[in-house]
Order: sequence, then C-alpha cells, then structure tokens
Amino acid sequence: MRGFGFEEHGGLERLGFVEVPEPAPGPGEVRVALRAAAFNRLDRFTLAGIPGVPIARPHVLGSDGAGVVDRCGEGVHDVRPGQSVLLNPGIWDGTCDACRRGDEALCRNYRIVGEHTQGTATRYVVVPERNVHPLPERLSFAEGAAAPLVFQTAWRAMKTVGAVRPGDRVAVIGAGGGVATAVVQVAKLLGARVVVASRSTAKAERARALGSDDTVVFDDSERPLDRVLWQWSEKNGVDVVFDSVGAPTIPRSVRSVARGGRVVVIGATAGPVAEVDLRTLFWRQASIRGSTMAGAEEFREVLGHLAAGRLRPVIDSDRPLDQAVEAFRRFDASDLFGKIVVTVPGS
Ligand SMILES: NC(=O)c1ccc[n+]([C@@H]2O[C@H](COP(=O)([O-])OP(=O)(O)OC[C@H]3O[C@@H](n4cnc5c(N)ncnc54)[C@H](OP(=O)(O)O)[C@@H]3O)[C@@H](O)[C@H]2O)c1
Ligand SMILES: [Zn+2]
Repeated sequence: MRGFGFEEHGGLERLGFVEVPEPAPGPGEVRVALRAAAFNRLDRFTLAGIPGVPIARPHVLGSDGAGVVDRCGEGVHDVRPGQSVLLNPGIWDGTCDACRRGDEALCRNYRIVGEHTQGTATRYVVVPERNVHPLPERLSFAEGAAAPLVFQTAWRAMKTVGAVRPGDRVAVIGAGGGVATAVVQVAKLLGARVVVASRSTAKAERARALGSDDTVVFDDSERPLDRVLWQWSEKNGVDVVFDSVGAPTIPRSVRSVARGGRVVVIGATAGPVAEVDLRTLFWRQASIRGSTMAGAEEFREVLGHLAAGRLRPVIDSDRPLDQAVEAFRRFDASDLFGKIVVTVPGS
C-alpha cells in the first residue's frame, strides 16, 4: 500500500511516497478507507525524529483522518462497514489507573496515530473501535479530518486545564496555528473575552472571523508581547494565556498573566527551553500548566459542538494526496492559517 511519509528521518527533502503493508483489523479494531487526512505540526517533528520515540520505517504520516469503514475485526459491535466516520487519533490502553478513572489523556501508554503508529496519509488505517465516530452530517470528509486533533487539544487546554470561566480574559498567542484557530472558538464558547496576539497583522485580522473579540500585533522591539497584553487587559493581566510557541514567547506570556492566572502550554513550535521569572509566578499566584490531547468524554463533548456547528474546523488548504509533498510544504509558509488537508483517492 502506498502512503505519504518517509524512509529516513530528516528535513522536507526526505518526504515522499513509501510502500507499507496493507493493514488488517485485529480483534476490536476497525479498518477505515480514508477519504481525507490532515497534518499537524507533530508530523513535522515525527519526520525530524523525536528523542525517545521509536518510529517504524518506512513511516506513513498523518494523525487525522476521515473516511468510510471498510472492515471490522472480531468483536466489533457498534461500527458497520460503509459508515462514514472520523478518527480520534489518541489511543489509550483502557487498563491503566488513569484510564480506569476516566482520565484517558493521562494514560501511561498513550499513543498518537501517525506518530506511534502508521498514519492516515494513505488508503487504509486500522484503529481500535473506540477511535472511530460517526462523521457529523454537517462536516465534509476534509472537515472531519481537520477537526479531531486540534479541537480536542484546544478543549482540554481551555476547559479542563485552563479552567476558563465566563468573563475570563483569554489570550491566544499565534493566530494561524491549527490549535490556535480551535482555541479561539473554544474559549469563546466557554464565555471568555478573547484576544489573539500575532506577529502578523493580516493573520490577526483573520482570527476575528473565528470570533476573537480583539487582536494585538507584537514584535521583539517596539511592541513586546507582555506590553501589548498588559494594555489590552487594562493592566489587570490575562486570566488564561494559551502559548504553543515556546521559547520566544513564554517569558512574556508569563509576565502577562493576571493574579491567579494560568499559562497553558501544549507545544513549543519555536523552541522547548525557556527562562521564566519565578517571582512573577509566586507573587501573582499564577501557574504554568501543560496539556496534551484529551480523554474520551472531552472528545465526545467536542464532537457534539462540531455536530451542532458551534465549532468549525479551519482549513488552510486541501489538495489531492498525490500532491502531499507540496501540501506539507505549507508548514513553512508565512501565511499558513489552519489545517493542511489532503484528499485521498476513492472519493
Ligand atoms: N500537546 C498536544 O496535544 C498538542 C496538540 C497539537 C499541537 N501540539 C503542538 O503545539 C504546537 C502548535 O501546533 P499548531 O499545529 O497549532 O501550530 P504551528 O503551525 O506549530 O504554529 C503555532 C503558532 O506559533 C506561532 N509562531 C510560530 N513561531 C513563532 C515565533 N517565533 N514567534 C511568535 N509566534 C510564532 C504562529 O503564529 P502566527 O500564525 O500568528 O504567525 C502559529 O500560530 C506545535 O508545536 C504542536 O506540535 C501539541
Ligand atoms: Zn491507560
């Protein structure tokens, strides 16, 4: 089976089409014939190689996907061939202490499709039955592929970990990242007052269409992030800062936080090691909290909002799978805004 991915770790020059065995569903598993797949920044890190994560090669990229159930393994009862579905890319074991108490995002064996397993930028993918969900009627296959990873991440980061309450001031650092486009919508749904902070005026403006109340533009000299957020918050500070940028912004995100506020970190696109002034944290009784993916109940909540149209995936571009190399190069484009989708033949 032909898939888009790599034989060897490295940069974009390693990308191409690889041959992997066609997967068969085992007990409790479902095989989905993909109609669309979507990429995340994670795919870029998987391509480069992630310390401590062994990745089978050749490797097919893509965590997100939507398609049609093609075959069911033994013991699968609730899913039928022919159903249109989207995939939850987060796989938990269901047996560890965290899973037993219903906090699957903390599963000690948590894995992500396309990172720890073969991915979705191909013809078929096999996942546990609980990882497939009926595709909401209002979503196309492309939208069904664009939504799951970023919206579940945004949901847990804002609702569970960020503990956003109605009226809270929420700042989203970065406008065009897939998760940022989801966080703006989730924070609004939770009743927050939202500001998007970007280095780009054009991208900040696009965030308004997603529901952001305000936008600010920052840079490293005239308009540092903490100063523009301090002004925006009328010198109160920001209750919840969502920062997936990392090293360049975290020190100033921390300085922007209100008393009792939270800086929520889900990624570090621009560098993983940052210096923060601990005095800000203890004096303002603020915290930096990490969050990753989401559990089963959180995922169901997100699906409900997607089905009702309250959350809407943002697609940067949608190309046929054959053009996956060009599609993937959008990750390095300065105007990237939302998710990169590829449509799989068979549709
Ligand atoms: N833990 C999890 O479960 C989880 C889930 C999803 C993603 N992630 C991680 O979270 C990160 C975000 O992923 P993503 O796909 O949403 O987006 P992304 O494409 O990695 O971009 C994130 C944002 O960072 C901003 N940015 C990048 N470099 C910057 C810099 N040097 N200075 C200031 N801003 C900068 C961009 O802002 P503008 O658009 O305004 O230019 C963009 O919106 C990634 O590292 C990803 O691996 C983690
Ligand atoms: Zn577990």
